[in-house]
Amino acid sequence: MYKEYWGLEEFPFENTPNPKFLYHSKEHEEALFRLLYVVEQKKGAAMLTGIFGCGKTVLGRALLNQLNKNIYRVAIINNPYLKSVELLRSIARQLGVTELSEKLNEMSADTFLQRIEEVLVNNFRDGKETLVIIDEAHMIRDDDIFEELRLLLNFQTEDRFLLTLILMGQSELMEKVRKHKPFAQRIALGYHLSPFDLQDTKKYIEHRLEVAGSKNPQLFTDEAVEVVFQNSGGIPRRINQICDMSLLSGFNNNVSVIDDNTVQDVIASLGV
Ligand SMILES: Nc1ncnc2c1ncn2[C@@H]1O[C@H](COP(=O)(O)OP(=O)(O)OP(=O)(O)O)[C@@H](O)[C@H]1O
Ligand SMILES: [Mg+2]
Repeated sequence: MYKEYWGLEEFPFENTPNPKFLYHSKEHEEALFRLLYVVEQKKGAAMLTGIFGCGKTVLGRALLNQLNKNIYRVAIINNPYLKSVELLRSIARQLGVTELSEKLNEMSADTFLQRIEEVLVNNFRDGKETLVIIDEAHMIRDDDIFEELRLLLNFQTEDRFLLTLILMGQSELMEKVRKHKPFAQRIALGYHLSPFDLQDTKKYIEHRLEVAGSKNPQLFTDEAVEVVFQNSGGIPRRINQICDMSLLSGFNNNVSVIDDNTVQDVIASLGV
C-alpha cells in the first residue's frame, strides 16, 4: 500500500521472524555468537531468555541459517505446552524416527528415548550433527519434561554430547529451569536479551528501512524515534507495530518524513 510512496521494495516492519531483516545489535550479535559456540563446539545445552518480542525466535532462525544444512539434523518445537511423552514424540518424529505412526501414538517415554538415542548414534556415525530447539520453553508445564530433556543430554560419547539442545523463552524460563537443578547444571551457557536503548532503536529502524530498499532510511526524525522508543520500551515487535502504522499514516497524510506528531497520533490510535 504505502510501499511505492516511501520508495520501498518490501514492507519494512513486518512482525515475522525473518532473519533477512536481522539487526545486529551488540546483544543480538553476542547471543548469536554464543549459541553458535554451543552448537559448533558441542557443549550440550544453551538457554536464551528475554522479554516477549525482543528477538529470540528471529535469532533462532538466524542461527539455523548459519548452519550447514547437509550436516545438521534439526528438530524445532514451537509448542512445548505438551505432555512429556508428546514432546519426545515430536522430537523423535522430526529427527526421523521411522516407526509407523500408529505405533508412535502408543510408545512410552522410555521407548522414545531409546529410538532417539539410536538416531543420535546413527547421525554421529554418519558425520551428522543433531540440534533440538525448543522455542517458547517458558510454557513448559509438565515437570517431567525437564527430566526427559536431562536424559536426552545424557546421550554422549566419551568426549562429546550427541545432541545440542537450545531452550528459548521469556524470562520466567530461568526460574523454571533453576528449580530443576540436575537439568540446570547441564546448561553450558545462558544469555538474556534486553530491549534496545534509544541508539539501537534508531539504528534498528534505519536498518529495516534499508533492507526493505529505502534510499533514504532516515525517514523518521530524531524526535519521532524518541517517541517510538519511549512508547515501545525498545522492544522490536512493538517498534515494528508503531513504525508500520506511522508509515501508513504518513502516506495517508501525504507527508515527506515521519515526525513526532505522526508517531504520537499513531500511538494514541493504537490505544495499547
Ligand atoms: N535484532 C533484530 N533485528 C530485526 N528484527 C528483529 C530483531 N529482534 C526482533 N526483531 C523483530 O521483532 C519481532 C519480534 O521478534 P521475535 O518474534 O523474535 O521475538 P521473541 O523474543 O521470540 O518474542 P516472544 O517471546 O513473544 O516469542 C519480529 O518481527 C522480529 O523480526
Ligand atoms: Mg518467539
